[in-house]
Amino acid sequence: MANPIFNKDLLDLTELSKAEFLSILDLASDFRANPAKYSQALKGKVLAMIFEKSSTRTRVSFESGMYRLGGNAVVLDAKNTQIARGEPTIDTANVLAGMVDAIMIRTFSDDMVAELAHYSSVPVINALTDLHHPCQILADFQTIQEVHGTTEGVKIAYIGDGNNMAHSYLLGATILGMDVSIATPAEYAPNAEIVAQAKKIAEESGSVVEIVIEPADAVKDADFIFTDVWASMGDEEEFGEREKVFAGKYQVNSELVKLAKDDYYFMHCLPAHRGEEVTAEIIDDPKHSLIYHEAHNRLYAQGALLMKLLLEDA
Ligand code: CP
Ligand code: NVA
Repeated sequence: MANPIFNKDLLDLTELSKAEFLSILDLASDFRANPAKYSQALKGKVLAMIFEKSSTRTRVSFESGMYRLGGNAVVLDAKNTQIARGEPTIDTANVLAGMVDAIMIRTFSDDMVAELAHYSSVPVINALTDLHHPCQILADFQTIQEVHGTTEGVKIAYIGDGNNMAHSYLLGATILGMDVSIATPAEYAPNAEIVAQAKKIAEESGSVVEIVIEPADAVKDADFIFTDVWASMGDEEEFGEREKVFAGKYQVNSELVKLAKDDYYFMHCLPAHRGEEVTAEIIDDPKHSLIYHEAHNRLYAQGALLMKLLLEDA
């Protein structure tokens, strides 16, 4: 049967149906369990990787993932390319699409990524923008399936800034039918359009979506607790004013996790700031913290995504 994700883009998670989403997670776990089976899956394929923001995990997981699938990757630091000198996106898209099989981009503007995808004849993957981080959610939900057996009946809670991670958890959870509760300060609430999108998806999938102010309300009976930095890439100059709002309240600590299920798990996309959004005691707790498992799953989740986008029969 033809693979319905073949030759598409992944700009945000709303482009995936529940079945497509789960098929990526299943392939990702199989790639993790049986790497040799996939060692030539993307032989001859080349991925261009464009970075306008910093990265450790995304760069290494995509690049190493391509190599482990038998393909190759070309890394472009945007500031050393003609993109930084103002070359129109239409020209970058058309030129790269004639030379590579897929384009991964980490940048600020979601509109720029949409424009790149519009003009590119090869799949474009959003590897983090100001509004979305879909690849992280694929890895995180693969991790949930691996430790919990299923995403069915799961409640996730997110504490902190209403940022790209909060948006992608909202969309990913509602597509899969998980309950999702997000606690942010009122002035750093998630984007209202994305919340509305998630609530609409939830009407179909049956997810409960809560946007609250109190971390305690979000964490109540959660199976998985997520957080992220108080100031994302691009917001660093606001750190001082953000700290005044977040400090002392939007932190995952031993008091807060008491409200979650006893066998809760802690997750964080990383990089993390111990003592700010999470205490060292929680993030370094080997029993409950999944931070390295989820980071390692970036390689497998994105490898699975690449196979789905580049192989007609994946
Ligand atoms: N989580 C994540 O995307 O990490 P990097 O910024 O290191 O790529
Ligand atoms: N919200 C963070 C995620 C980093 C992976 C940022 O955008 O900087």
